[in-house]
Amino acid sequence: MKRLLKLAEKIKNKELRKKTIEFLKNPEITNKKFKYPSSKFEDAPAGPMDFHHAYPGGLLDHTYSVVLSCISVAENLQKVYPDIKINMDHLISAALLHDIMKIFIFRWNNGVVLQTDTLMDHGIWAAAELYARDFPEEVIHIVASHFGPSGPNPPQTTEAIILHFVDQLDAMVDANINFMKNEKLRVLFLPEEEKKSSK
Ligand SMILES: [Fe+2]
Ligand SMILES: [Fe+2]
Repeated sequence: MKRLLKLAEKIKNKELRKKTIEFLKNPEITNKKFKYPSSKFEDAPAGPMDFHHAYPGGLLDHTYSVVLSCISVAENLQKVYPDIKINMDHLISAALLHDIMKIFIFRWNNGVVLQTDTLMDHGIWAAAELYARDFPEEVIHIVASHFGPSGPNPPQTTEAIILHFVDQLDAMVDANINFMKNEKLRVLFLPEEEKKSSK
């Protein structure tokens, strides 16, 4: 968590920095009618077993990696396209918080990921909580649109496009590492004929 808090310190706007750090340190749901079991951010996996970062601390690794990559991509784009303006504060805040509601969805238990079924996905849910915590609309948009063009709220800003693609990249890289390492998972994805012959 220290790694994430250090990245949050890069947010120059004092109010946004404070709100982002407060949310990271105290990720409770503002509306107390909603009660779900939760993991500590540090312990939570980022997804179910056949998905990405499905291990304790996976959410932390994924978030850390996504923030670092978002910063690099944004800096490179700004070098090549000086006319585009990227709000680094908005991007860093959104990248740090984009998956935070997964702490109420995924839990590590005896070597497996347990999943709580919720009617809202974690992106929409995070957007609702960001509204409750009075975050800027631009940050809420980046988080709400991180599923990309086919999601419920397509990205409309450069910051939102960056987060979506960096998030996908990081998830796919980890899923691929897993896939290459995990014989069981590889068999799961083999065509039917190959599955039979590999038995
Ligand atoms: Fe996500
Ligand atoms: Fe993510």
